[in-house]
Amino acid sequence: MHLTKEEERLLDSENETISECMRILVTLGKFFDADRLIDIKSAHISGISYANIKDEGLEWLKSLKARFKVPTTINPAGMDMERWREMGIDHNFYLKQKEIIETFKRLGAETLLTCTPYYIKKVEFGEHIAWSESSAVVYANSILGAMTNKESGISALAAAIIGKTPNYGLHIKENRMPTILVKVKGDLSAAGYIAGESLSNEVPYFVFDRKVAKWELKLLGASLASTGNVSMFHAEGITPEWRDFEKPKEKIEIEGKLDFDCDPDLIAIGCPHVSDDELKLILDLIGEKRVKKELWIFTSRDIVNRNRKIVEKIERLGAKVFCDTCIVVSTACEKYDCVLVNSGKALHYLPKLRGVEVSFSDLKRCLEVATDG
Ligand code: F3S
Repeated sequence: MHLTKEEERLLDSENETISECMRILVTLGKFFDADRLIDIKSAHISGISYANIKDEGLEWLKSLKARFKVPTTINPAGMDMERWREMGIDHNFYLKQKEIIETFKRLGAETLLTCTPYYIKKVEFGEHIAWSESSAVVYANSILGAMTNKESGISALAAAIIGKTPNYGLHIKENRMPTILVKVKGDLSAAGYIAGESLSNEVPYFVFDRKVAKWELKLLGASLASTGNVSMFHAEGITPEWRDFEKPKEKIEIEGKLDFDCDPDLIAIGCPHVSDDELKLILDLIGEKRVKKELWIFTSRDIVNRNRKIVEKIERLGAKVFCDTCIVVSTACEKYDCVLVNSGKALHYLPKLRGVEVSFSDLKRCLEVATDG
């Protein structure tokens, strides 16, 4: 891999954080046969919940002696930073999580605490970025037309400090070519969950039998990336690069229908974090009904701040809208027996990471269950 004189100098820097970050990028680049490092416009770092990184991760973060060179955002934390008591989070966990966030601030991050930073910060078509958080990676590549590989939390952090990433994978246009045509009907989140199980390392080209909303594509991508190693898809007539390549010859059909059933004592929406449109839709779907079961909706604080009235109405009906965190990275749902979700990603990770049973329905049905009691 070719390194410029400046990059060689960074590799040998006396600042151990800089040389270590360069070593991470160079090792990654050599492994994937990258020809060089390229400049990035932004970085997004996942895995920042204290439940994930514990004391060891926190100490490592505190030992870093550098600042992020490009605008850098971070994923949800282990709790709502204001309503953590309501979530049943203990004081020690709160203090540790706060320290992690303050450490990221010192490094220069914008602490948005969301997996949907693209609802807050503009991402341009064709720009190179280095993001971890698989759901955001699929969204950025597929729907925004930005270019990123699925980074780990560590490689995204190294890229943020150096301001560069190795040039391979989805940073190269020809690797974004669709490899299989997938006809989809039914729920998109369920379809992504099913498709991911058989489509590892593919770039699917989706054809839908109806008009679909962007937030449904977000759920599709998040599911796809959790059950399969998929970081990009095209959607005919919708995504910005769908016309750039030949249509794949190989075809499959998928019906988005899942059969997971338990009697939910908690309903969770917002994996990935809900958008402005989803918040409005949730309020419309609840209508005038009262929420009778525990209903948690997750989004970023920025989205809540710009939808204050809608959030107040949703909460008056009996639901809770939490910020900064999510159903999977927080331990708050562990005291429940069965969590009903509309997200294939949450369906995939909740039993593994939080040890709870899960049930799945589309958004409309989830809200009916919450209001019917
Ligand atoms: Fe986001 Fe948490 Fe789901 S980080 S994609 S809401 S698991």
